[in-house]
Amino acid sequence: MTTVVREPAEFRRACDDARRASRRIGLVPTMGALHAGHLSLIDEASRRADFLAVTIFVNPLQFAPGEDLQRYPKTLEDDLGGCRRRGVDVVFAPDTGAMYPEGFQTQVSVAGVTKPLEGVFRPSHFEGVTTVVAKLFNLAGPCAAVFGRKDYQQWKVLSRMVEDLDMPIEVIGCPIVREPDGLALSSRNRYLSTNDRHRALAVVAGLRAAHDAWEHGERKPAVLESAAAAPVAATFDRIDYVAAVDPETFEPPATSPERLLIAAAAHLGSTRLIDNVVLGEDERP
Ligand code: PAF
Repeated sequence: MTTVVREPAEFRRACDDARRASRRIGLVPTMGALHAGHLSLIDEASRRADFLAVTIFVNPLQFAPGEDLQRYPKTLEDDLGGCRRRGVDVVFAPDTGAMYPEGFQTQVSVAGVTKPLEGVFRPSHFEGVTTVVAKLFNLAGPCAAVFGRKDYQQWKVLSRMVEDLDMPIEVIGCPIVREPDGLALSSRNRYLSTNDRHRALAVVAGLRAAHDAWEHGERKPAVLESAAAAPVAATFDRIDYVAAVDPETFEPPATSPERLLIAAAAHLGSTRLIDNVVLGEDERP
């Protein structure tokens, strides 16, 4: 049975009870609008833990003014159905006041790895993410927490936070789940018109071009970056970045790297999409 709780204290109690019964807690933090990518995270958590906790909270702290906080899709009933079918034990779906009551003043902030890529275009974003996830970790006390690698930088930032703050949590990054035509699943895909959904494939074409070049032996980061950027530049309305960087630091890579992250963020109208591939590690997108 899936229990749905709204209050932080109830969520903590459910997790405390599970721990007392010697159950390993696996946590999947989400903002809802669950799709097959999220369900794959829940499946991964169920392989690593025997008490499954999912959180559904559209976290205002990680949205800057002018971003899509107000229109972020909210599909709670469907989400709960998906959680029930997956055998989730507890869903924590707080409202904003429960997470950030009056007087709330604390921010958790990670330095270095938050600064490049997303950090340039969304400077306050990761502080919002690390603050809310630190709160969720403190409430749940999970053994393992599972995130998607579509938000690759987020995964690394949270791994850094856990290591630096000695949180006894295994942070797992799961492979990107894609549509048959390659588009990475995202809650934001539902904003796309049919035409923009088609145009969005340019980012997949870019990542595939870089992947193919890598498979043919190309190792020069600048060449791989250009291969990825060309279709995006030709199709998207605006590019934030298409970058070839070191997959751990997000700094400029070695001249001939063993692994290389190609990460992209670009806009189609008012919709911002991100995607990535780690060359030398990931399958062809
Ligand atoms: O990846 C997300 O959905 C969010 O950034 C997260 C980790 C749930 C924090 O709000």
